[in-house]
Amino acid sequence: MAEALRVGIAGLGTVGAAVVRIMAAKAGEFTRQCGRDLVVTAISARDRTKDRGADLSGAKWFDDPVSLAKSGDIDVFVELIGGDSGPAHDCVKAALEAGRHVVTANKALLAKHGVALAEIAESKGVLLNYEAAVAGGIPVIKTMREAMAGNSVTRVFGILNGTCNYILTRMEAEGLSFQDCLKDAQRLGYAEADPTFDIEGHDTAHKLSILTSLAFGTKIAADDIYMEGISNISQADIRAAGELGYRIKLLGVAQKTESGIEQRVHPTMVPTASVIAQVHGVTNAVAIETDIVGELLLSGPGAGGNATASAVLGDIADIAKSSPGFQHGPVFGRPAKELRPYKKAQMRTHAGGYFIRLTVHDRVGVFAAVAKRMADNSISLESIVQHAVGANEDQQKTVILVTHETTEAAVRKAVDGITKDGHLTDKPQVIRIERAG
Ligand code: HSE
Repeated sequence: MAEALRVGIAGLGTVGAAVVRIMAAKAGEFTRQCGRDLVVTAISARDRTKDRGADLSGAKWFDDPVSLAKSGDIDVFVELIGGDSGPAHDCVKAALEAGRHVVTANKALLAKHGVALAEIAESKGVLLNYEAAVAGGIPVIKTMREAMAGNSVTRVFGILNGTCNYILTRMEAEGLSFQDCLKDAQRLGYAEADPTFDIEGHDTAHKLSILTSLAFGTKIAADDIYMEGISNISQADIRAAGELGYRIKLLGVAQKTESGIEQRVHPTMVPTASVIAQVHGVTNAVAIETDIVGELLLSGPGAGGNATASAVLGDIADIAKSSPGFQHGPVFGRPAKELRPYKKAQMRTHAGGYFIRLTVHDRVGVFAAVAKRMADNSISLESIVQHAVGANEDQQKTVILVTHETTEAAVRKAVDGITKDGHLTDKPQVIRIERAG
């Protein structure tokens, strides 16, 4: 049998602990599948004494993850520290430069430094595997990187953050507050160390930037993503969406348009009957549309220790199965040096339907003024509904508009005009509608 694959792990949080536990519990299965043993030979983590459900007494402990990354005791370095710079970046770079294969779950790191790290990995002839960085346990990286050669992608979109989908699902199903749902997501180990990364869309944007690069062969451009989170989604929006035949999801969307590539993360209305609308709780889903295969939809657990560990272990097993000296495939599906510059489509040119919820004074002429602003901006309405608002129903009404396809620029101009007209009693709410089958 081939020599054991020596694995060094930096970071034993929720995911790291699950990785060592499963490696120990399923050691025989890994050996049978890979034709060699997988052994954790080195660890760097904050607390040496904590019980992780696996015997780690044979592993060498390092206080400094960079020393572990460079150590001669390992063949593969697994980075589960997190963060886009600092120790995570230093140790991944050091490991690649030392000619070690790297497995990481770190989307923030790849969003910022992915292309530079890929160049190092490719020049050293080692693997940089990152299946766990996007959509937890769903094998979307392998699918896009390896299984779709020759396909031209037109749009890739999905539910990429388990915490947000969990919150939106429970808000809709149980009428719970945003804060209560967030607390539960944190308790269950879904949320990032700083949950604003989840709820304000940063985590989705990091993952989307990686998918965009795989989809369109462009350099990662995570700073060029239009981003809105879910913290201003109210029960009023969720109820109105339901009445109109929609469900609200936080989507990340990358789409090829005539003027460039749109990358956007925002709460989105999807038809209740669409497949993606049936994706509930911490489950993620990624839809990929191409000229050859048509539309693929992958769904599965997007966060949590075991789901993410499953992807990390698959990446480690791929390294164990690869032959020594074998020329490995490029990190982002094509050589890093050939990734093209990203050409951004401006958000104001985005075309689609819109949901607009206005809280207005109940007085003569308001409805007409709203309709006029729409017409002045060439926005055609699919529906317009008026409701009374709670205890103030004598003075306030909610007006809900759904538009036919129009542009972001037209909607912004119309809503600015309505705001200036002075009929609103609260901030207007605008939610984009996404075509989904
Ligand atoms: N906080 C992330 C999520 C974890 O909720 O999806 C997986 O990246």
